[in-house]
Amino acid sequence: MNELDSELIRQKLISEGFIEVQDEKKAELILINTCSVRKKAEEKAIHFSRQMKNNNKTVVMLGCLAQHKGEELLKVSKADLVIGTRSYEKLIDILLDFERKSTKRAICEDLGIFQLKNRKVREGEFSSFVNIQHGCDNFCTFCVVPYTRGREFSRNAMDILNEIKQLEEQGIVEITLLGQNVDSYFDGKYDFSDLLKLIEDNTNYIKRIKFTSPNPRDMTMKVIKTIAQSEKIVRWIHLPLQAGSNRILRKMNRGYTKEEYIYQALTIRDIIKDVSITTDIIVGFPGESEEDFKETLDVVRNVKYDGAYMFKYSPREGTPASLFKEQVDNETKGRRLRELIDEVNKYIVERRKLMLNREFEVLIEGPSKKDFGYSVGKTFNNISVIVKGLYKPGTFIKGIVRGIKGHTPILEISGN
Ligand code: 5AD
Ligand code: SF4
Repeated sequence: MNELDSELIRQKLISEGFIEVQDEKKAELILINTCSVRKKAEEKAIHFSRQMKNNNKTVVMLGCLAQHKGEELLKVSKADLVIGTRSYEKLIDILLDFERKSTKRAICEDLGIFQLKNRKVREGEFSSFVNIQHGCDNFCTFCVVPYTRGREFSRNAMDILNEIKQLEEQGIVEITLLGQNVDSYFDGKYDFSDLLKLIEDNTNYIKRIKFTSPNPRDMTMKVIKTIAQSEKIVRWIHLPLQAGSNRILRKMNRGYTKEEYIYQALTIRDIIKDVSITTDIIVGFPGESEEDFKETLDVVRNVKYDGAYMFKYSPREGTPASLFKEQVDNETKGRRLRELIDEVNKYIVERRKLMLNREFEVLIEGPSKKDFGYSVGKTFNNISVIVKGLYKPGTFIKGIVRGIKGHTPILEISGN
């Protein structure tokens, strides 16, 4: 979501005559888009801002941290301007005003959602994010998003479709629909499954439709079936687990039980052929005992994820869980995280092996950074693979998986 916001802001600035430079040293103005989901992201953004101020740049802090901390951030980051997620509509005016008066200030007004009327695609770009929903009403007790992004709001389906059509006319072949809780998408007429079908039926050049993220408590059979029947919707579901213990899930306010989650994940595997399932997991939520943690490992064994983002719980100011007693010590969090990563990796390796000697169509993303002379691409179930040779980003190639390096399958072009 931040990546998309940064891109929209970049386009807005360029359309207003600002010039983008590749070398940060040559820039007069530095805009930093911040995330406040975990403490580390906050610290990095503040450190970078101070560093840029030491180099005499004009610094603007944007994003969730800006929205959440306002004036306080202005002080700690030494930035010149702090502009919250809901004030981007006024961004240009604020920048011009600063140029005249040099008054440092924090602006966190609610001016609504920032959206460009015309999306422009960069040279060579083939994949784009598209917002379908803003904010979140779920209030998971660990999460700062409902406070920084505001109430949940679904964009009009026709506006979304128009934006996607603008993108495909400029060469985009893959889109990723973004929302905090896409399954509760509803614009008064279309629900999430209707929206997926609308996009599928009304696009010509878009070959792949992805989305992130659903919430396990709201994912419907209708959506699962729509994906199973589609030739464009990528067979990948990111299904955030967060924790496996029912006691912890309740304290997190997640709205599902371990049993419901496992049943849903296995149903998805049953109905959507070759689906890959990835997840987010937090270890060390307040009060998490060794038994609770074992329940998380048990879900991993049942679902066998194709990938996972795993985090130590990070207390966020203003969220209920940050005030819960029984905070888990850092050493225990670290140990649980390592144990969890090992367990998740075992199943990733097992699942990757199932790809051996099978044919896949891959969308090339670019040259591999790690493997010289190889390209990286994604299968229709969103698994990254490498293939020998340098192919143009955005092209589709078919091949057979003949080997695996770490977690990465190696594809050989069919017919070779
Ligand atoms: N501490 C650790 N991880 C968190 N996440 C969200 N809030 C926190 C927190 N306070 C994780 C969740 C979420 C992902 C985007 O970040 O797993 O799904
Ligand atoms: Fe945060 Fe929960 Fe909303 Fe996800 S669903 S953004 S974890 S409050």
